Amino acid sequence: MVFEEIYMVQAYIENREEIQRNREINGATINISGRQRMLLQRTALFCFRFVYDRDENDRRIWRNRLIDTINLMEKSHQALIYGDPRMNLPGITSEAIRNMYFEAPMMADYHIREYIGAVENLIQSSVAELTPDNHYFNYIQNAASYELLDILDELVSEYEKESDTQLERLYGQQEALYRQIANAAAVAQAQNQQLAKLMSDLKQSQLQVIHAEKMSSLGQLLAGVAHEINNPVNFICSNLIFARQYAQELIGILNLYTQEYPTPPLDIQNEANAIELEFLVQDFPKLLDSMKLGTNRITNIVKAIKNFSRLDGVDLQIADIHESLDSTLVILQHRLKAKGEFSGIEIVKEYDKLPPVYCYPGQLNQVFMNILSNAIDVLETQPAPRIITIRTKLKQNRSVAIAICDNGLGMTEQVRAKIFDPFFTTKPIGKGTGLGLSISYNIIVEKHQGSIWCVSEPGKGTEFWIELPIEGESHSLNSAIIPETKIGFSEIPC
Ligand SMILES: Nc1ncnc2c1ncn2[C@@H]1O[C@H](COP(=O)(O)OP(=O)(O)O)[C@@H](O)[C@H]1O
Ligand SMILES: [Mg+2]
Repeated sequence: MVFEEIYMVQAYIENREEIQRNREINGATINISGRQRMLLQRTALFCFRFVYDRDENDRRIWRNRLIDTINLMEKSHQALIYGDPRMNLPGITSEAIRNMYFEAPMMADYHIREYIGAVENLIQSSVAELTPDNHYFNYIQNAASYELLDILDELVSEYEKESDTQLERLYGQQEALYRQIANAAAVAQAQNQQLAKLMSDLKQSQLQVIHAEKMSSLGQLLAGVAHEINNPVNFICSNLIFARQYAQELIGILNLYTQEYPTPPLDIQNEANAIELEFLVQDFPKLLDSMKLGTNRITNIVKAIKNFSRLDGVDLQIADIHESLDSTLVILQHRLKAKGEFSGIEIVKEYDKLPPVYCYPGQLNQVFMNILSNAIDVLETQPAPRIITIRTKLKQNRSVAIAICDNGLGMTEQVRAKIFDPFFTTKPIGKGTGLGLSISYNIIVEKHQGSIWCVSEPGKGTEFWIELPIEGESHSLNSAIIPETKIGFSEIPC
């Protein structure tokens, strides 16, 4: 939580405590001011009984009660004006109430003291003076019924009014603070979520970068090895031409010798028989031919490796898609051919006539490699026939479509929906990383503004589709994944 939020929560708590304190003070103030009103009337009633009761004893009782009551009234009055912590009374805080106590026309303080004074005077009156027309008695009755009662009524209602206003203000503050906290919490939560997403994106892209880095250094290594092999293969190749020529010349001379000397000395005849000269002469050119074939094959592999591990620069380069596909197939040759029980995987190519495409050829090769490897992975686990079909198609002279289809087990809808997610794999640990298709998606969609999608159903094989703009920018489909319903098996354009 940031400091601002902590401060807001603190303010909210303090505000609640203030409300609580205010409630207590207001409650006490209103209680005691209401009690004043009640004491006023009680005093008037006791005065009445005090004046009218003829019995000396009863009179004493009323006097004592009157003394108690006015003492209480005095105490309440002091507490209201000057405060009393034991009663939770802070003293007068509002200007309006202060005026009501001390200023004309109300002058409540003066009237209350006068009232208390009148009661004290009445109590001290002689028995003879205690008549219904006693001056103090009449004053008390009148004040308790009208004048002072009205003053106290007004004071009580002013206390109530101010308490309500005060509480309303505090409630308003509380609501505003609560709203601020709720907003801040919502913002913080959104930020947290954003941060968590950023962190996981960062982690994923870090791993992808590491993977891509690994692939790139492997590619460089491969290119280096290919380069190293290239030179010796080249001189074997070029020397083979001379070797063939020399061999033919040597054989020519030998034939000439045989014609001139049909019966050579016994030593030579024995040696010729020992080395099977006749067979050697026939086999030598064939041997050279197969050496030529072998070196040609090495040359092709080296070429494919060099093509496959092309280092991409910052700019798009012109590339031949078919050459890329074929190079990738050469690299994967060892996984395609038959060995032992495994009868191999057949590759069917249905290539359209394609123009050169602006792209990052090294990255594109990686995509072909990932998709073809996945097809081989699935075909390896099932019986023959195992077929991978590669189709290409030029679309309205603006983009090229490449389809890599296998007749493997296919995928369920749940699997298909996740194949482009980073780290999604159905393969055992050590075999699958779940990065191949997510990286491919990134290369095709982000780097080439192309599209990649997959059509697959259990038992019906899998088709991966790639569409690339020829000029290096998307002219057609921009959405990355076209739902299966949009392009079905029957609508395959190539
Ligand atoms: N041709 C295919 N046939 C069946 N399933 C496939 C095929 N290609 C990809 N998949 C599924 O997609 C998942 C993700 O593939 P990928 O990203 O290359 O990661 P990985 O190959 O490391 O598992 C695979 O684990 C597999 O379940
Ligand atoms: Mg894979």
